[in-house]
Amino acid sequence: MEVSRRDTLPLLATGLAATAGGAARAQYAAADPAVPIKAHLGVTENPFGPSPAARLAIRHSVRDAAYYPHSEKPLLDRIVAREGIRAEQVTLASGSLDALSHLSVGLGRGGRILAPQPTYSTHLAYAARQGVETDWVPLGRDHQIDLAAMLAAIGPQTRLVYLCNPNNPTGLLLDPAALHAFCIEASKRVPVMIDEAYFELAPDPLRHSVANLVREGHDVIVARTFSKVYGLAGFRIAYILAQPERVRLLKSLVTTSRNQAGLAAATVCLGDAAYLAGAIAYLKDCRSRIYRIAEDNKLVFLPSEGTFVYLNCGMPGKDMQARLARLGVEVRLFEGAAYANWIRIGTAIPAELAHFAAALPKALAAAG
Ligand SMILES: Cc1ncc(COP(=O)(O)O)c(C=O)c1O
Repeated sequence: MEVSRRDTLPLLATGLAATAGGAARAQYAAADPAVPIKAHLGVTENPFGPSPAARLAIRHSVRDAAYYPHSEKPLLDRIVAREGIRAEQVTLASGSLDALSHLSVGLGRGGRILAPQPTYSTHLAYAARQGVETDWVPLGRDHQIDLAAMLAAIGPQTRLVYLCNPNNPTGLLLDPAALHAFCIEASKRVPVMIDEAYFELAPDPLRHSVANLVREGHDVIVARTFSKVYGLAGFRIAYILAQPERVRLLKSLVTTSRNQAGLAAATVCLGDAAYLAGAIAYLKDCRSRIYRIAEDNKLVFLPSEGTFVYLNCGMPGKDMQARLARLGVEVRLFEGAAYANWIRIGTAIPAELAHFAAALPKALAAAG
């Protein structure tokens, strides 16, 4: 039977009718087209889906669909108020990837970007396609981003430092004091872009965020998104907090406006505590299920603060990925010399995780 996130989640999300899934999953082509994917674990979305208020706002936004979005102000005002930031220090983006990509090229031009490895790097691949290459700093032995090594690696060619907290794929959060000290030091030399895509999932988001450094005037760029915990990945809406000069640069590079439905949804769900509590509980439960599956198979994993779990499958990840694909499970690999045996498992609906639980022992036992 085809796994349908659409059908399963409402049963779990007490009072929150979730409709993620179904048809959209077709975009993730199976490695072997003959084997339909039954567990889409290569992604980092939140299958819990949008909040009830966001769903209503999306429905109402249809009334305005014939027109270009006329105002971003309601959402910008809410962000400014919540962050205690100046209006010139915030701008919206059609997904944080769009902003990260434009800033990587715009700031990196004529030099290089510095980033840890492994990390989220779709925007860095985009920058490379535009002629801006990245220098990679391996994670430390504790799988953490090595802040001392990154600071030491900033050179005359470095135009931008990027890191993601918690890091994707490890799910590890940095020590807040160490990250703050790093940002202050590094941003004296180059802009520092901190990707807080999973901000809301942190045990104490405000303590882990570096948004206060933007408020204080440091050359730090914070990227946040509605794609992950807020369950709005399909509506492509995100925001950037940065110094006015960086905000102006980003605005000069983007080519189009945000979308009507995404703006409407984000405006009503930002900071919706009841919804966030439900979404976070759901994601934590998913992570626990993945931990149990790893433990049952005696595999090492990292405790995650993201919507995914990174685990050491004890064999080349490429082989495991191929074996799992033959069993209808899609997982994701990352670049990084020390991580050839690691695979990232995304949070998903219980039926998908159950499928993974059944497939993993078979994949581990399979030949070749
Ligand atoms: C760390 C990180 N940053 C940014 C993104 C992009 O998110 P979006 O463009 O949907 O805001 C992702 C998505 O996987 C991510 O994992």
